Amino acid sequence: MAHVDTGLFPTIPIRSAQGSYLTDTSGRRILDAISSWWTCTVGHCHPKVVQAIQRQAGTLDHVMFAGFTHAPAKALAEELASWVHPQLSQLFFSDDGSTAVEAALKIALQYWHNVGKDSKRLFVTLNHAYHGDTVGAMSLGNSGGFHGPFQGLRFKSLPFTPPDHFWQSGDVLNLEPPTGMEDLLSFFRQLFETNAGQIAALFLEPLVLGAGGMKMMSPALLQAMVRIARSHDCLIIFDEVMTGFGRTGKAFAMDHLNLVQRPENVPDLVCLSKGITGGTLPLGVTLTQQKIYDAFLDTGLDSRKTFFHGHSYTANPIICAAACAALQVLREESLIERTSEFRPIYLETLRELQSLSDVHNTRMMGTILAMDVNKNQALSESFSYFIFKKATDQGILLRPIGQMIYLMPPLCTSGPDLSRASNILLDCVSQYGSSSH
Ligand SMILES: Cc1ncc(COP(=O)(O)O)c(C=O)c1O
Repeated sequence: MAHVDTGLFPTIPIRSAQGSYLTDTSGRRILDAISSWWTCTVGHCHPKVVQAIQRQAGTLDHVMFAGFTHAPAKALAEELASWVHPQLSQLFFSDDGSTAVEAALKIALQYWHNVGKDSKRLFVTLNHAYHGDTVGAMSLGNSGGFHGPFQGLRFKSLPFTPPDHFWQSGDVLNLEPPTGMEDLLSFFRQLFETNAGQIAALFLEPLVLGAGGMKMMSPALLQAMVRIARSHDCLIIFDEVMTGFGRTGKAFAMDHLNLVQRPENVPDLVCLSKGITGGTLPLGVTLTQQKIYDAFLDTGLDSRKTFFHGHSYTANPIICAAACAALQVLREESLIERTSEFRPIYLETLRELQSLSDVHNTRMMGTILAMDVNKNQALSESFSYFIFKKATDQGILLRPIGQMIYLMPPLCTSGPDLSRASNILLDCVSQYGSSSH
């Protein structure tokens, strides 16, 4: 607010958007290289998504989703069933990423209550995790910088704090398991053994911890963690709010876990949001396996097993129609398959980054390229403001988190646009390194 008020960092009025670009009121085009906080997948204002929204808005705008249903919700549920794993056969609608997470954590706790295991109340989480800003999501997260003032409100979780080399550099999907993985896993196993009988779920962002700094882990390590959690009678919950819908190069991060040969790796609950509507409207979905659904069935009709959780705009028809259209576009335009075209451009960028001495931990996965940049002690201005301004001046939206800068453009971004974004990023980072007052 202070930066805006003093004119140091004015907000940019945006008039319209198309594909990978935003256009401001002066007519300047800005490449949305972080997909407007990772939401935009199919490109801004995709005509098929816009048309679906317009058509649905003129037919049925909204109806409460208790005692009523409608075609867009049914179509979306069916469509999602074909996208995600068949074991994740049931779904619960909410409003955004945070509420998809809140629903998941409450479903997990009530699941254990409904099956008579009330002692299972704790969640194993990852250090640096971010699951949203509502109180439950803050409790599962370990993003001190965002949630410091609310410490007292957060419920206790069991954060797992792996050493730094756990978060890998390079082309993460190509790397071997991290060195010392067995030692790391024995520490992880100990966490479950020490708290035996009390753990409700392992709750994590699979493969990439987004807001915690685009920290990337090897699929081998994730798979090993899931296997340990599975052997300790707890649920496994994946927050795929950011990783879902193509971000890691496959439809979902869990698709890197060899699910055909290893169906036991399929999580019990999965949270989706952001890209689900292509980036147009807010929607949260929590998917569950059948055994979870069954534990809430009220055969006696006495409500004791009911999940008393719902939002006014649950399964809003316009939003469901937008999501159906966005999923159709993803499929028709093979946008997830086409993310393989990001790879050679990112690999080239990784090579060029090696010449910048202030840059370290360069890493990539699917549509995400990230790196950490040393603080320039001679500058009083934060890295984030410095880069944001330099980048928007050159027509690209970049917004670092702390000293971490990344690219995560819409899946539809063309090769030339991606190369341009990479070059501007390189330029901004070198300007930061060589700047002083
Ligand atoms: C992994 C993850 N989970 C949950 C959320 C919260 O989503 P929302 O901002 O839509 O509430 C985010 C937001 O960035 C996220 O990255």
